[in-house]
Amino acid sequence: MMLLCAGALAGSEPDKLVETACLGCHSLDIIAKKQATWEGWRMTVQDMVAKGAALNPDEAKTVTEYLARKYGLSEDAKLARGKKLVESVCVLCHEFARISTEQLSRDQWAGEIRGMLEEGAPLNDDEFEMVLDYLTKTYGPRSGK
Ligand code: HEC
Ligand code: HEC
Repeated sequence: MMLLCAGALAGSEPDKLVETACLGCHSLDIIAKKQATWEGWRMTVQDMVAKGAALNPDEAKTVTEYLARKYGLSEDAKLARGKKLVESVCVLCHEFARISTEQLSRDQWAGEIRGMLEEGAPLNDDEFEMVLDYLTKTYGPRSGK
């Protein structure tokens, strides 16, 4: 079945927006090479608008959604990314055992990671979410508890 997007006015199709707002400074390659979550794309688009990409806030949202769909990360890829981050960032200051002996709920992990940010752990918002998902999944509370 064909779906018509009611909001798609002429000139505001996301691929056209990308063409006019993004391809003045670099090729599509640099965009297509990146895989990121919605939050990751939101940050990149914001960054590019600050650099001069001509998008109003509505258009920026449209482009973000389009890029996250087209060049997004699957759930598995997000978990793999979270694992990699934990293995690289969370062992900068202490041993991995500090983490692997814990069994925390999602909220507790979120609090724990926020504490680590205060200690100086280098994670942006996007990475925070992926680390949180991974830790909750891998070192969550024992079932039945
Ligand atoms: C005014 C010039 C300009 C425009 C317009 C622009 N970019 Fe960029 N972009 C840059 C520069 C310069 C870099 C390399 C520096 C950097 O990485 O911050 C870059 C790097 C990137 C990267 C690789 C780095 C990263 O953050 O992953 C991506 C992806 C990207 N741009 C996407 C976009 C998208 C999407 C748009 C349209 C919404 C866009 N760019 C519009 C200048 C621009
Ligand atoms: C910049 C250094 C630094 C980084 C990076 C870091 N931590 Fe920590 N972490 C600490 C310090 C310092 C303590 C000890 C704090 C304390 O004992 O109160 C600690 C303690 C902990 C503890 C034990 C807390 C407790 O209540 O006993 C856990 C769990 C933990 N970190 C998890 C992590 C995770 C997950 C990451 C990655 C997101 C991480 N840490 C990254 C500095 C860091």
